[in-house]
Amino acid sequence: MEKVAYPNLFKRINLNGLKLKNRITMAPLYLGYAAATGKVSPLLLHHYGQMAKSGAALIVVENASITPGGAGSPRTIRCDHQRYLPGLEKLAQSITVHKARAGLQINHAGRYAHVSEPVAPSAVSVFNRMPRELTKKEIVSIQKQFANAAARVKAAGFDLVELHGGTGYLLAQFVSPRTNKRSDIYGGSLADRIRFPLEVLKRTKDRVGDFTVGYRFLADEWLPDGLHPAEAVTLAKALEDNGVTYLSVMAGTYESFYLPEVVKKSQKPGYMVPQAAAIKKHVRVPVITAGRISTTARAEAILKEKKADIIGLARMLGVDPEWPQKARKGRDKAILKCSPKCDACMQLVMKGQPAFCPRWSRGRRETYRALFR
Ligand SMILES: Cc1cc2nc3c(=O)[nH]c(=O)nc-3n(C[C@H](O)[C@H](O)[C@H](O)COP(=O)(O)O)c2cc1C
Repeated sequence: MEKVAYPNLFKRINLNGLKLKNRITMAPLYLGYAAATGKVSPLLLHHYGQMAKSGAALIVVENASITPGGAGSPRTIRCDHQRYLPGLEKLAQSITVHKARAGLQINHAGRYAHVSEPVAPSAVSVFNRMPRELTKKEIVSIQKQFANAAARVKAAGFDLVELHGGTGYLLAQFVSPRTNKRSDIYGGSLADRIRFPLEVLKRTKDRVGDFTVGYRFLADEWLPDGLHPAEAVTLAKALEDNGVTYLSVMAGTYESFYLPEVVKKSQKPGYMVPQAAAIKKHVRVPVITAGRISTTARAEAILKEKKADIIGLARMLGVDPEWPQKARKGRDKAILKCSPKCDACMQLVMKGQPAFCPRWSRGRRETYRALFR
């Protein structure tokens, strides 16, 4: 029998009926590869095929917009209409054909949306733009758009859908005391600020039945007046009580990512593990952690010490899609590492360009370039 170097990392886990062959998942990573129309492109199919071949048990595809007004960036995958279904079906197949589970993250970017008139829980300006406060009618309509998008994810053949409650996007904007200043039932007390994500979860679950629904979870905005773990725990417990299958914990938003202390912190290996561990103490559902987990020894220790149940690799898998195979064989040193000082992928996508990693071989970069259109 093959000797597995890291037993915890290669232990199976059951996500409420959905069996994962190991504890490695690709955390969502938007790289700007969709077609300009938001349709699934040849490059997306190639890229996610590569990610799925890696041996990771679950590939959660980057955020896809539930409505044209909710896209966070140009070339965001769209899942707001039936016309996107054929492409989404191919995308799910590009992953499942390699015996990996496939998930798609769905999102409304709210005040961060890449549109001329963004909407948000409240009119709180961001990057010199003032979003418009949503009406109650619009709030209900967005909840339905989440549920409809989730139904398309299921119809397309994905194994799960993930609600994007991270990065300071719309779901998180409702929870945060700094971006939600509403005086109706969707704002004010914590119980009222978490109402929107809980209603989105409920509508989604009602729509998709026993399909797996996960949640990208913002545990800390890393801003003095923002959401902190003490409040986030209340949402984590409520999501669990309302049937979420897992929590994929992250920290930071576009307003904190580039603060000098956050930049410094984010260069450290496992920089979001403390947030995951803090949430894990309060829930029974599996917790995913990500953030510069570049060595298998670190990944194994996180699991062994029960700080999280599943390891998320975003850039780490993008840089070296052989990460899981090398880990299985104990070939730690052979893993190609994402440099903590390099922010090329984020810088490129923020300029509206596709992100091709400087660490890749020239051959890989050329293949990706040739497929980009
Ligand atoms: C360029 C870029 C794009 C990202 N896109 C997403 C996304 O679409 N959805 C999401 O939940 N997180 C996204 N993230 C956050 C990652 O999922 C992950 O939490 C973070 O990069 C830390 O993990 P890593 O060090 O393995 O990359 C993105 C991060 C980067 C750098």
